[in-house]
Amino acid sequence: MAKLPADLGALYKSLRDVLASGEDADCAELDARIIIESRADKTYLDILTSPETIITAEQLTLIADDVKRRILGEPIAKIYGVKEFWGRAFKVNGDVLDPRPDTESIIEAILAWHKGNASRYKDAPLQIVDIGTGTGCIILTLLAEIPHAMGVAVDYSWAALDVARENAHRLGLTERVSFIQGDYVSALNDSVADVIVTNPPYIPSADITNLSESVKTYDPILALDGGEDGLDPYKKIFISLKKNLRTNGRLFLECGYDQIQAITRIGENSGTTLERIIYDLGGHARGGVFSCGDK
Ligand SMILES: C[S@@+](CC[C@H](N)C(=O)[O-])C[C@H]1O[C@@H](n2cnc3c(N)ncnc32)[C@H](O)[C@@H]1O
Repeated sequence: MAKLPADLGALYKSLRDVLASGEDADCAELDARIIIESRADKTYLDILTSPETIITAEQLTLIADDVKRRILGEPIAKIYGVKEFWGRAFKVNGDVLDPRPDTESIIEAILAWHKGNASRYKDAPLQIVDIGTGTGCIILTLLAEIPHAMGVAVDYSWAALDVARENAHRLGLTERVSFIQGDYVSALNDSVADVIVTNPPYIPSADITNLSESVKTYDPILALDGGEDGLDPYKKIFISLKKNLRTNGRLFLECGYDQIQAITRIGENSGTTLERIIYDLGGHARGGVFSCGDK
């Protein structure tokens, strides 16, 4: 990589151009801003209004190292150990999937459902279970947005649960969430919830090799591999859904863009019906809301 210029405006342009030549060219501008903000403590407004500001040699060295890592495919979130989700910062590391913007569509769907049903939950708190919690971004966001709701977060990975616990601590939510290590819903035994939410691993095993370098190298395989057809987690979750979901409750799930029909059939075989499809920010069918029946 050519020597980076020391003045802020030229540095920003240079980083943007270098990053645009890498694998995630779409994020080049944003990544250049995040790197400058993280290492030189300068905002985008500083870049626009004081482009002549001189960046120190030490800061330039750190910036150059980060850019090299980014060009080799390491996600910006993994470099700085933090990813924003629904307006909050979540710790990330190599043991967890970086929260994705598309997963915010599930949050939107649950908050809308809760708004329409809030009167049911004014005396007893809404009980939410998050299966495959990773960073905890789903359950912790819901607890932060729905006062008095209580949560259980399940993951097979002890290391992921450590990250989720730390995020709960940072967000001041430890009193309202408990963490269970286990295999999907089997960890719940006979306990019931009003909302079960899951964004499980759903990539068919054979497709993992085709994922981008930044996903397959830096996200844990446990967070990606959904078995031969990518549907193993859904089969396990639906088997005991009737036992674990309260009457009037809902299962909200995220899935791959071509999986909702197959998942609906799995659900129907377990006496569950698809109430509505959840679409991502690009308009793709990326999830569903399922019910076992209302009273
Ligand atoms: C796609 S990631 C989702 C993480 C987080 N919920 C999110 O939306 O960003 C799937 C998560 O499921 C967890 N997982 C994989 N197999 C599991 C199993 N058998 N039981 C419970 N969790 C599992 C992984 O460790 C990972 O944290």
